[in-house]
Amino acid sequence: MNPPPPEQAPRKTMSTPSPDRPLVVGVTGGSGGPIALKLLKTLSETDVPVALVVSDGGATVLREECGLYPRDLEQYVDVTYDDGDSAARIASGSTRSRGMVIVPCSGNTLAKVALGFADTLITRAAQVHLKERRTLVLVPRETPLSTIVLGNMTRVAEAGAVVLMASPPYYLKVETVDGLVSYLAGKILDQFEIPHRLYRGWKSDEAAP
Ligand SMILES: Cc1cc2nc3c(=O)[nH]c(=O)nc-3n(C[C@H](O)[C@H](O)[C@H](O)COP(=O)(O)O)c2cc1C
Repeated sequence: MNPPPPEQAPRKTMSTPSPDRPLVVGVTGGSGGPIALKLLKTLSETDVPVALVVSDGGATVLREECGLYPRDLEQYVDVTYDDGDSAARIASGSTRSRGMVIVPCSGNTLAKVALGFADTLITRAAQVHLKERRTLVLVPRETPLSTIVLGNMTRVAEAGAVVLMASPPYYLKVETVDGLVSYLAGKILDQFEIPHRLYRGWKSDEAAP
């Protein structure tokens, strides 16, 4: 008897096999695509392997906001998975990683993570990072915030995630939007202790204590 036809291969670009201990980057439908782009560009200049997943909402907002398509991000990463691919390596806690960031993180995805939903690869990978006690950074961009969103933020923070709001550092006197985007990408890298030169810290020209 003939074996059943192979399932359609999940979308996977560039290197095979998947990189060891990647940083998992999820892009969902919040505003802030330029932060994701800056982060991925910066990571591509390091030796940190990156696995990228873009949700359908993320692709929509990237297009509306930046005129970008997922392929514009994919060129900077080692491997890309489809958000519908629940059988991808990063859906399992047995796959080691450096951690995960969801940038931007929509209120929709935040709510799913807070409630333990795992109906997409991004939300499943987020649950894996929480249960394995690995670094999970969520970067929402919303204002003002309802008590529902605030409650979801509290819930994910209590579960171990870092909520890193895409808010400007007025005290650093950043003068351009690109400077703000660099600052936020740098703050994300700080969470994973990945060195960068994306922003200068407060009084960084003074001698260290
Ligand atoms: C142009 C545009 C901008 C959006 N900006 C935000 C935003 O800043 N924050 C947010 O939570 N949702 C925002 N949304 C709504 C989400 O994209 C929407 O809830 C989507 O279903 C999220 O899906 P996902 O979580 O699977 O990516 C925006 C939508 C569009 C079209």
